[in-house]
Amino acid sequence: MSARLRDRVAIVTGAGSIGPGWGNGKAAAVLYAREGARVLAVDINPAAVEQTRALIAGEGGTCETFAGDVSRSSDVAALVARCIERFGRIDLLHNNVGIVEVGGPVEISEENWDRLIDVNLKSVYLTCKHCIPHMLAQGRGAIVNISSIASLRFTGYPSASYNASKGAINQLTQNIAIQYAGRGIRANCVLPGLMDTPQIRAYLTKGYGGDVEEMIAKRNASCPMKRMGDAWDVAHAALFLASDEAKYITGAELVVDGGMSCKMS
Ligand SMILES: NC(=O)c1ccc[n+]([C@@H]2O[C@H](COP(=O)([O-])OP(=O)(O)OC[C@H]3O[C@@H](n4cnc5c(N)ncnc54)[C@H](O)[C@@H]3O)[C@@H](O)[C@H]2O)c1
Repeated sequence: MSARLRDRVAIVTGAGSIGPGWGNGKAAAVLYAREGARVLAVDINPAAVEQTRALIAGEGGTCETFAGDVSRSSDVAALVARCIERFGRIDLLHNNVGIVEVGGPVEISEENWDRLIDVNLKSVYLTCKHCIPHMLAQGRGAIVNISSIASLRFTGYPSASYNASKGAINQLTQNIAIQYAGRGIRANCVLPGLMDTPQIRAYLTKGYGGDVEEMIAKRNASCPMKRMGDAWDVAHAALFLASDEAKYITGAELVVDGGMSCKMS
């Protein structure tokens, strides 16, 4: 264990994983703990977040869990209160929760549109709303929002609500970065490209109903490096932005995509 986040307290949302293996939030929570942070791991799925807690505890780290829905104001208020009650401060807010839906405005139901925007975007507003006052009082804080290269480009198939939510996360992050730049709070985004996480396997199965291995092979082939990235690639970028090594970086969009967005037209 090194100590790039020694004495820091981190909230990680979506810190479980929707299937076996490493999701982006789970890897970030474990990596932050390895670097010395005490972690409040948040997820709508209590079993998933308990797995993350057990992994961290098994490595000698400190992790508390909170089971709740980050698109609900009352849950976010409660999780922030829990963090303060348990750890006394919030140094790092890592917004990882994100759901995906295939389709354009015609195909996506109004109900699903609202749900996706609430889960992906309103959740970031809510966590920031409740965490920033504590960061201001401390005179220090770092926010890392997990966006996507889908915030910048069409990524090969229509996913209008997802892309719109991620584009809005970039702008929300920039606004926060500028508003609080002089008061010790930094806010940055990580923009993953095609990553091999449990989420995309579930998504490909649901969205296409086709052969998942074939879709995985296609995703690998479409990357300039001929392979997708993984959750650790995202977690290490987030760790850099969360740490003091990034003390002069705010409002940035750190692309982690093996060059994918450079070749997209
Ligand atoms: N995998 C990729 O290719 C890729 C690419 C770009 C961006 N991303 C982004 O990475 C993030 C997630 O990645 P992941 O692999 O960790 O996904 P994941 O689905 O494995 O993990 C997300 C976790 O969030 C939880 N969750 C879902 N809705 C929630 C809610 N309302 N409240 C609380 N928890 C909730 C799930 O239970 C799950 O454990 C998302 O923001 C996604 O858009 C992924």
